[in-house]
Amino acid sequence: MLYYFTKMPILILLTQLFYRLVIMQKIVLLNPKGGCGKSTLSTNLAGYYANLDEPVALVDIDPLHSSLNWLRKRTFDLKPIKLIKVKSEHLRIPDEIKHVIIDTPASIDHELMMSIIDDCDTIIIPVLPSPIDIQAASFFIYELLLKFQISSRKKNICLVANRAKLRSTAYKELSKSIATLKLPLITTVRESSNYLKCASKGASVFDYSTKTSTQNIEDWKPLINWLNSNEKEDH
Ligand SMILES: Nc1ncnc2c1ncn2[C@@H]1O[C@H](COP(=O)(O)OP(=O)(O)OP(=O)(O)O)[C@@H](O)[C@H]1O
Ligand SMILES: [Mg+2]
Repeated sequence: MLYYFTKMPILILLTQLFYRLVIMQKIVLLNPKGGCGKSTLSTNLAGYYANLDEPVALVDIDPLHSSLNWLRKRTFDLKPIKLIKVKSEHLRIPDEIKHVIIDTPASIDHELMMSIIDDCDTIIIPVLPSPIDIQAASFFIYELLLKFQISSRKKNICLVANRAKLRSTAYKELSKSIATLKLPLITTVRESSNYLKCASKGASVFDYSTKTSTQNIEDWKPLINWLNSNEKEDH
């Protein structure tokens, strides 16, 4: 009996360590350019994991609290997503959480960005298919890979083109420029008013099985496959 009690804390600690090192997946949505879709992709990704019934937490680092406000609108009939409030430099994530999605602000402070990157295994960079945004993304990727020495071998880093109007000639030209950005372009999320419609209810496109949501989800499949395959490789 005594043996059981003395060994218990060690068992708990080991279980916690196992969860943190092996089970928990931390994904950050990052791009200092404003309005590229960090919050939209964060909240929808959280919605995806919630609908798999996998414990998911959303961390909102942005002082404007877009993700927090989205989550506050979420109704009880939708699958739960845990909100993690940032009170200090270190995030306290409950051990049962399997996926942590971190939404970051535009013009993020370098030190904060580096500490988040250190703590994450996956970085998703949303990019709008516009010349200004692609140029800004190119500069940011240069900083990330060269100045800050973030190796794409150690972290899973990808680009997601967002708000694309696939049929426009402008998009066709711009998708070629995105492809030169030295990181894999995993998917293209089309522009759809459904994101706004869902967001007004604290919902993601994964929460509904409407025709439009089903079309939206098609865009997410390559990203989901990429995340799943990384998760398997990392563990
Ligand atoms: N695929 C999409 N289709 C339609 N609207 C979109 C899409 N993605 C994002 N939006 C809209 O574009 C606007 C900016 O998106 P979002 O807030 O997600 O960007 P952000 O990178 O988080 O911005 P910020 O840098 O200010 O935090 C929002 O109004 C959002 O609803
Ligand atoms: Mg945002």
